[in-house]
Amino acid sequence: MLETVSIEPSFTAWRVKARELLENGVAPGDLLWSDQSSGQEELFGEAGSPSLRVRESNLTVPKAFFPLAETVACHSTENRWALLYRLLWRLTRGNERQLLFVSTDDDVRRASYLAKEVRRDCHKMRAFVRFRKVGESEEGREQFISWFEPMHHIVRHNAPFFKKRFTGMDWSILTPDECVHWDGEKLSFSEGVSAQEAPDGDALEELWKSYYKSIFNPARLKLKAMQAEMPVKYWKNLPEAPLIQKLTIDASIRRDEMIGKESTEPTRAPKNLYLQRLHHQNSATMVRESDAVAMPDTLEEMQDLASCCRACPLWDRATQTVFGEGNPRAQLMIVGEQPGDQEDLAGRPFVGPAGRILNEALGELGVKRDDIYITNAVKHFKWKPAGAMKGARGPRRLHDKANRAEMKACRPWLLGEIARVKPRVILTMGNTAAESVIRPGFRILKERGEVIGPSEIAFDGRLFATVHPSFLLRIRDQEEKSAAMQEWVRDLKQAFEVCADG
Ligand code: URA
Ligand code: SF4
Repeated sequence: MLETVSIEPSFTAWRVKARELLENGVAPGDLLWSDQSSGQEELFGEAGSPSLRVRESNLTVPKAFFPLAETVACHSTENRWALLYRLLWRLTRGNERQLLFVSTDDDVRRASYLAKEVRRDCHKMRAFVRFRKVGESEEGREQFISWFEPMHHIVRHNAPFFKKRFTGMDWSILTPDECVHWDGEKLSFSEGVSAQEAPDGDALEELWKSYYKSIFNPARLKLKAMQAEMPVKYWKNLPEAPLIQKLTIDASIRRDEMIGKESTEPTRAPKNLYLQRLHHQNSATMVRESDAVAMPDTLEEMQDLASCCRACPLWDRATQTVFGEGNPRAQLMIVGEQPGDQEDLAGRPFVGPAGRILNEALGELGVKRDDIYITNAVKHFKWKPAGAMKGARGPRRLHDKANRAEMKACRPWLLGEIARVKPRVILTMGNTAAESVIRPGFRILKERGEVIGPSEIAFDGRLFATVHPSFLLRIRDQEEKSAAMQEWVRDLKQAFEVCADG
């Protein structure tokens, strides 16, 4: 007979219950999961402590499962609990340790899809929550309130973002699902409310307008990004819409004024190569410095924004954006081509076969991966189906090379990473990376090593280019392979030495 498991709909409650069931060997097929509506008796007693871990019973769960599960748990579909338990079971008792890398598996695919929908909802909340001022606290802190209707249970998941973004004011975000409050010290949560309890729309719009005006920086105006954040069709509903138009027109004038103020000789090209590029930039086909500087200040926030990027079609068939990672102050930045199948699932660059070779080489050179910054020229996995693989359901995803338009669309992210990390040396790996960073048509086998001369990106450090580790993986002849490998490690070493010398 099927056992019904009724849990409070939270990741913590699921995790505690799932651990207990897993330890008792209760198979997924014997269970029916359901959300416990508030007030309903807990069928299984107290939920217990969330710190209990499955690991204690020798059933270790791959690390990558938890962030995925936590995101999926926010989805509103009731069958998420059963799906997560099935995945957990297969990863542990089913001994399918690599399951999360099998992108063609139905459960993995479903979980990725649900996670993607949750992320999209989180992004919508970030873009559309509008705070209205409702008063001031006794200590003189301004108090704001807003109303939002999410599709999924994302309030807790998204709360840290709002806390970080609006630390200086007190606020509440009311939703029908759950409400979150910030008082300058801690986040707290309360039950959802109905739309009637939200504050009156019109009364406080003027305040929102003045808030918007105060954060508006003409030097950072980037209409395209604003349109991506806030599709034009919604603009008419926003109180700030008439302001955007006016400020946009004013912006070019004010930007000129600002530049004029900064420099006493505005016609002379600036020293910094990065700014020089801006100075000479007038071709619409080139990437503008402003594309990179108009982004948020920190890598973390940039990554957040990139997770919702739709600037080229690649996002649509990929699981997630694979942003760069590593030391945000690294002296060396490695730029690969684009994430592969495993990177797409893990959400991290260079974790598949090419990453293993890279890690090996770093080990050989005594360099810690955490000390450098690793990213890609294109941030979404591009693939084509390769026919049915033996034993697999659905097509295998074969790497497909990003085209020029996709490289160009993605370059602002890379420029943004470079502008923030400010590495001393950039090492590109593979043709796509070299073509994106250095110049179209760049031939690595002819020009590997240090690159002197103009490059697509404006960068005043030193630039090196080498082959991609997957090129090494493809060489069949063992002798040839080991020679190529040695040469590649020498290229890496040279780049590291330049960093160390500087
Ligand atoms: N190849 C790349 O260029 N980048 C990755 O992240 C993985 C494989
Ligand atoms: Fe955006 Fe780059 Fe992804 Fe294209 S590949 S959607 S530009 S992050």
